[in-house]
Amino acid sequence: MNVMIVGGGGREHAIALSVSKSSRLTKLYAAPGNAGIAEYAECVPIGVMEFEKLRDFALEKKVDLVIVAPDDPLAAGLVDVLEEAGLKAFGPRKNAAILEGSKAFSKDLMKKYNIPTAAYENFDDADAALRYLESAKYPVVLKADGLALGKGVLICMNHDEAVAGVREIMQDKKFGNAGNRMVVEEFMTGREVSVLSYVDGKTIKIMSSAQDHKRAKDNDQGLNTGGMGTFSPSPFFTKELQEECMKTIFQPTVDAMAAEGREFKGVIFFGLMLTKDGPKVLEYNARFGDPEAQVVLPRMKNDILDVMEACIDGTLDKIDLQFEDNAAVCVVLASDGYPLAYEKGKEITGLEKFKGSDEYFCFHAGTKAADGKILTNGGRVLGVTAKGSDLKEARKKAYEATEWVQFENKYMRHDIGKAIDEV
Ligand code: AMP
Ligand code: GLY
Repeated sequence: MNVMIVGGGGREHAIALSVSKSSRLTKLYAAPGNAGIAEYAECVPIGVMEFEKLRDFALEKKVDLVIVAPDDPLAAGLVDVLEEAGLKAFGPRKNAAILEGSKAFSKDLMKKYNIPTAAYENFDDADAALRYLESAKYPVVLKADGLALGKGVLICMNHDEAVAGVREIMQDKKFGNAGNRMVVEEFMTGREVSVLSYVDGKTIKIMSSAQDHKRAKDNDQGLNTGGMGTFSPSPFFTKELQEECMKTIFQPTVDAMAAEGREFKGVIFFGLMLTKDGPKVLEYNARFGDPEAQVVLPRMKNDILDVMEACIDGTLDKIDLQFEDNAAVCVVLASDGYPLAYEKGKEITGLEKFKGSDEYFCFHAGTKAADGKILTNGGRVLGVTAKGSDLKEARKKAYEATEWVQFENKYMRHDIGKAIDEV
């Protein structure tokens, strides 16, 4: 099979690694890919939003399967464009990717189908939102409706902060058009868990769970980021909780999308909060998580191409999805300053130690190859993942491996997986 991956971050590197292991693979392309993905794929300089170019390239190279990994092209309908040209694509069509693309849509869907989530109101008018916030219960959560790189969520402790938040989102348009509408949501407390799943329109199969660390600094301080590290599985997401969520959240979401005429095929990522009143949905994503994919996919036993094809063909019920009985931890190495300003272009050394290992992985997120060197080229630079027989061993190994890699201004959190010690 000829396969093309659309995207070029750590998540796409993890997908590329899985695809590279498939016995069915003939040739792998990545658009645009990155310096790490280039180890398994021919990277072509086409951006993820250049739909016609992606389509024409896939047709020319007789690509049998296009994997669309990032949220922006999914929400904008890349899968539809590829399918119209007769290509096979993994990922939801535009009418289903709205599950992530509009928080107002997803909240209304959950309300209509009784899927547990925080109480909320949607607003498309700043004045109405401000009136509502005068008598709201604090803290309150404000969310820009559209895609905002995981940053369009503001937790406001009091009325003054909420007023400033409405200004940022709806008036100053800090998140662009994502802020044309806004969700105001009840603040929930509890442990967070990321549950990724494969979906074929009707059947859903749950992958091993994970936990992200979204804040930039240790002890969950600092600004929200795309994710500073992950571990898998989450010891807090027990088999009983998974069974409960299958009945109250997972299958009902798939059925709700089908009932709405928005059949979902691809990956649904459930961001859950385990509250004292039971598990509730924080958010949906219509794709693999980043850096969740970096700890979940290396533990998957199945041939990923079989699973993805089953999602497209509607035969996922025939797949016995299996994960290794071990654990993985990923520590993100970032450029100091991320998620605000940071420097780029620093040489990275020590990457060769990971070559060929099936216990230690160094996923490239923001890197660039130049003059035979690998340079930093983004806020999140690398994701260092290690597998171990249990979470503690995986964490120890992952932190050891972070020392193998050097670059100027290297920054990481030192408490990824700290929650494991509470088990
Ligand atoms: P989201 O992008 O919707 O996952 O939100 C980003 C982060 O904000 C989540 O991972 C939570 O830590 C936090 N968050 C979002 N919604 C809520 C909520 N209703 N209550 C408490 N925290 C929330
Ligand atoms: N790590 C969170 C996300 O991918 O949205």
